[in-house]
Amino acid sequence: MADETITITDNRSGERFDIPIVDGGIAASSWRKALPDVLFFDPGYLSTAACESAITYLDGEEGILRYRGYPIEQLAERSTYLEVAYLLLNGELPTPAQNESWLHDITYHTFIHENVRKRFLEGFHYDAHPMGMLVSAVAALSTFYLDAKEIHDPESRQKQIVRLIAKMPTLAAAAHRFSVGMPFVYPDNSLSFPANFLSMMWKVAEPRFDAHPALVRALDVLFILHADHEQNCSTTAMRTVGSAHADPYSACAAAAAALYGPRHGGANEAVIRMLHDIGSLENVPAFIAGVKQGRGRLQGFGHRVYKSYDPRAAIVKKVAGEVFEVTGKNPFLDIALKLEEEALSDDYFVSRRLYPNVDFYSGLIYQAMGFPIEMFPVLFAIPRTAGWMAHWVELLEQDAKIARPRQLYVGADQRQYVPIDQR
Ligand code: ACO
Repeated sequence: MADETITITDNRSGERFDIPIVDGGIAASSWRKALPDVLFFDPGYLSTAACESAITYLDGEEGILRYRGYPIEQLAERSTYLEVAYLLLNGELPTPAQNESWLHDITYHTFIHENVRKRFLEGFHYDAHPMGMLVSAVAALSTFYLDAKEIHDPESRQKQIVRLIAKMPTLAAAAHRFSVGMPFVYPDNSLSFPANFLSMMWKVAEPRFDAHPALVRALDVLFILHADHEQNCSTTAMRTVGSAHADPYSACAAAAAALYGPRHGGANEAVIRMLHDIGSLENVPAFIAGVKQGRGRLQGFGHRVYKSYDPRAAIVKKVAGEVFEVTGKNPFLDIALKLEEEALSDDYFVSRRLYPNVDFYSGLIYQAMGFPIEMFPVLFAIPRTAGWMAHWVELLEQDAKIARPRQLYVGADQRQYVPIDQR
């Protein structure tokens, strides 16, 4: 077998060092022992593995995504979001008994404290962005559950995980209802997780709101697809704040704040705005030509990690068809299909390995289901909570060090303070 090491020669001294390759990486600690004065410079962590993780496997070259070893295609076809959440958190699919108790726990933790809604959420300005409200409300939960600070107690950890996953849809729907001036709808514990969310979103005066089963299933599939994606920006925020041993609500709020950023949770919104600007099929070639000349990007295309078709995008495209059968076709669909067709046969996109990502079609589905654009990042945060929690538990169980990167200082050398009247 080939020697699993890398040899480095320090040309300043002529010294050579053998550094072992383990699981496809080299431990920076081995490097540091050999060359303590030389740091890796890796802004944006393009070539840095910041942790070991057994949760999600992603191969961007081959377009593979697996949660705990299970292909995303199988989970999207056969599982439910709550089952997937259990899998991400516990490493195994639940037995029937475990499933029953997990569903029971989530179902009976969906209510939020009245003060969260009445005093906190209703204190926002009338036009507050629902994602801003959600980020703040999640952080505020830490003040309601003081036992959340007991992060080394597995029982307490489990309690917070259940609370967070269960209450996220309630907070999300409450933020939406407030932002459109509609009264809050209490959770309906007789409904499934996605059906209950749709009820809290859309119920008006009917005694029970039953969303169309195809839409409930479509939302559940989208939740599965968004449940985890290994070390993305928000999960990295979760891990970074979690590594300081902050309580899970505060760490989760930090993760959600990262997701609020348009580069992370806002791409599907950008897709809808782009389709709106293009306006009609005839304008597609001119738009593509403009992108190739550097005038903007084809939103929903390209990915930092996937250099082939994002496996989630293929599933979302199929779900879109099922949703449009119920809601009627989103008028932007034809423009999106034409864009995809043109881009996938154009050397500019092919040579750069730019393919549709998960966001290319998800916004069209959410829009057809009636969600306002501002809710798109919120719809992402609800299921990603399972992933954030799974990474948080993994981090604590690994007894990870506090995240504290180094820097290459490029500022001024030492200089003397100048009093204000002499500047
Ligand atoms: N449209 C046109 N050209 C593009 C696009 C695009 N969507 N994406 C990348 N390129 C081009 C770049 O101009 C660059 O070309 P060059 O080599 O001639 O300079 C090349 O492809 C490489 O692009 P980078 O920006 O270096 O790729 P990076 O990995 O940093 O960016 C990103 C990935 C941010 C996702 C990018 O593809 C993009 O901006 N896509 C559009 C926004 C989007 O859909 N984001 C959602 C990502 S999925 C998610 O977060 C859930």
